[in-house]
Amino acid sequence: MTRIFSGIKPTGHLTLGNYLGALRRWAEEDQHRADALFCVVDLHALTVDHDPARVRRLSRQAASLMLAAGLDPQVCTVFAQSHVDEHARLSYLLECVATDGEMRRMIQYKEKSVRAQAAGQSVRLSLLTYPALMAADILAYRADEVPVGDDQTQHVELSRDLAERFNQRYGHTFVIPKATPPAVAARVMDLQDPTSKMGKSHEATAGIVYLLDEPEVISKKVMRAVTDSADGVAYDRAERPGVANLLEILSACTGKEPEVLADSYDGYGTLKRDTAEAVVELLRPLQTRHAELSADPSYVDGVLREGAAKARALARPTVDAAYRAIGLLPPA
Ligand code: TYM
Repeated sequence: MTRIFSGIKPTGHLTLGNYLGALRRWAEEDQHRADALFCVVDLHALTVDHDPARVRRLSRQAASLMLAAGLDPQVCTVFAQSHVDEHARLSYLLECVATDGEMRRMIQYKEKSVRAQAAGQSVRLSLLTYPALMAADILAYRADEVPVGDDQTQHVELSRDLAERFNQRYGHTFVIPKATPPAVAARVMDLQDPTSKMGKSHEATAGIVYLLDEPEVISKKVMRAVTDSADGVAYDRAERPGVANLLEILSACTGKEPEVLADSYDGYGTLKRDTAEAVVELLRPLQTRHAELSADPSYVDGVLREGAAKARALARPTVDAAYRAIGLLPPA
């Protein structure tokens, strides 16, 4: 059976981008067609300036949003990365397979290190080595597929390279994974700056729809989305990124192609109104379920505990095999 692994990093409140690019597909398709693991990748949240209490809060919130989105712990495995030691154990071996140059080429490292430096913050070494930990997340489970948004495909490609190199040097140990981006909304853009990704850790929040925003707040953010001064509505990502973003969001909500939607509008006002309504309705059931789950944190904790036990049992033999293959003595 196909094995799927994917994760979400608790560095901020989850966004519409996380939902359309990842979460929704995990719940509606992936968990039902494969042996799937979904992880709150909390160790990754320590790669940037962080507040311990906030990371704890956001980790539990991410887990309950994953369940609220429809992940069913009877069907798939939901767990927290830091509860399974194998991730960190394998990450070190992969650092010994990766090169400094390939880590520095990662677009996210370049962007985030520039941003940190501009804010007068030092750049943590773990931000550079992050893709080795992400590769470990995937390779420890011998995952075939990694459903992610566009922004993560470079990291998944690096995981492939590391798996191939390891297998070649030390003997076949890992499955070679591939990224599977969604057909639409692979990259939801910021409503105020449609040339950048809608990102949960960005500071300016007016262009970001959070999954737990109130309906009025969602409407206001969509109605104020930046468009352009050209006439009519057309789907053109390069020339008209703001309108294209709205059309893609509406497309992801309605299942109609962005080009078809573009033909049915002649002004931005109605396009924005319909998009706002569609997003509010899309998120309503998730918000209701999240409110129920947050009233019962012990349920969420129980899911994570059981998920970690299942995940550990899967990862352990592969990571042990990698330790032997690379030349480390087995414990006596
Ligand atoms: P993260 O936490 O930034 O995002 C979680 C998922 O949401 C997708 N996503 C988006 N999709 C479309 N439009 C957007 N604006 C948008 N923003 C985020 C991401 O592509 C991702 O699928 N490094 C990863 C977490 C990770 C991981 C892993 C993922 C760690 N280890 C192993 C898969 C497998 C990250 O930071 O995702």
